[in-house]
Amino acid sequence: MIILSIETSCDETAVSLVEATGDFPNAKYEILGNALWSQIDIHREYGGVFPALAKREHAATLVPMLEKALAEADGALELDYSPGLYPEQEAKIRELLEREPGLADNLLTFHKEHGPLPVNAIAVTAGPGLEPALWVGVNFAKALAYLWETKVIPVNHMEGHVLASIFDVEEDDKLTPIPFPAIALLISGGHTELLLMSDWAQYEKIGGTRDDAVGEAFDKVARLMGLPYPGGPEISKLAAAGRKAQLPPFKDGLPRPMLNSGDLDFSFSGLKTAVRYAIQDTQLSDSERQALARDFEDCVRDVLIAKTQAAVEQYNAQTLIIGGGVSANQFLMHEFKRHFIATHPNMGVYTPGPGLSTDNAIMIALVGHARLERAANAAAATYIQADGNRSLANE
Ligand code: KG4
Ligand code: ZN
Repeated sequence: MIILSIETSCDETAVSLVEATGDFPNAKYEILGNALWSQIDIHREYGGVFPALAKREHAATLVPMLEKALAEADGALELDYSPGLYPEQEAKIRELLEREPGLADNLLTFHKEHGPLPVNAIAVTAGPGLEPALWVGVNFAKALAYLWETKVIPVNHMEGHVLASIFDVEEDDKLTPIPFPAIALLISGGHTELLLMSDWAQYEKIGGTRDDAVGEAFDKVARLMGLPYPGGPEISKLAAAGRKAQLPPFKDGLPRPMLNSGDLDFSFSGLKTAVRYAIQDTQLSDSERQALARDFEDCVRDVLIAKTQAAVEQYNAQTLIIGGGVSANQFLMHEFKRHFIATHPNMGVYTPGPGLSTDNAIMIALVGHARLERAANAAAATYIQADGNRSLANE
């Protein structure tokens, strides 16, 4: 079956076409088309993602991304050029997309050119994320389902990060059969969560941040240091230079918040505040900046690994899955693997392949396939809601 997937939860507009052969989780996946547009350059001047702007950009970019994914699929889809539309169909599309400026016009033009795409389902991120941004994708999915007479599968974005790590896009295009229970550590700009996964689609939240998410801490510390948004990649570049130069510790060292709290929760706002105090009223030299970035990253590593280790032991985990934008950090992923190969040599440790750690649409297609039973036809799909706080524990 062919799944079209849509991701608009934050600042990436992504559309992919994925062919699944077989049943989840033993299917083979082929990526027919994968289009992604990052809005980062637009948001950078605000120092973070600006929701109203994100919404407008998604509306303007979704059809171009659909065009791109289709062009990449290059003939893998058999198009049926019978695009005639009745006035009431056009009116319905305009009604479904009335809150998304320009999107109805773009979609109707696309339809005149290509006709309906023969996809079996449309998977769309319904949450968590920025609600105005999520609604653009959800409404677009509803309009496509109506126009193409197909079904919509609402997807939890965080489940996408979990499956993106298990799916080995480089190796064999298959989801790996994994032994349960698994622990999933999700680290992104909006989330820092430890989840117990007792089986596919069975999640229980066992720990989380009490304040800032890890990615948010990277972004805020970067901002304090005058680095551009998003801060994660910037900090990790400086940290790598500091490590290579074997610089001495920055000042008195930074705290490792809640390291010994005895539970599976995190806190990162204290670490950010410690950075603020450490650098206020000082002009940092290049090597001080590198040492600070490295020490910050070391603190994050120590806390993340210690809590994950505690979760793995408490639940006797057979598998560890790490996902979310911060798992793009190669130093952190390397340290996780090194640590757990030493302490739990028989436990599989899964981290995302290239391009799958930060937001993308492939991960949304995978969840769509895992959650086929949710597929709703166009009439039923009108009830699908975007929910900025959608939680994996309730999936
Ligand atoms: O998953 P994601 O793309 O979006 C959300 O769902 O939040 O994650 C984005 C977050 C940002 O906070 C960004 O700074 C962080 O991931 N990030 C990194 C790195 N690359 C992205 N954090 C640390 N090191 C990185 N290399
Ligand atoms: Zn994400």
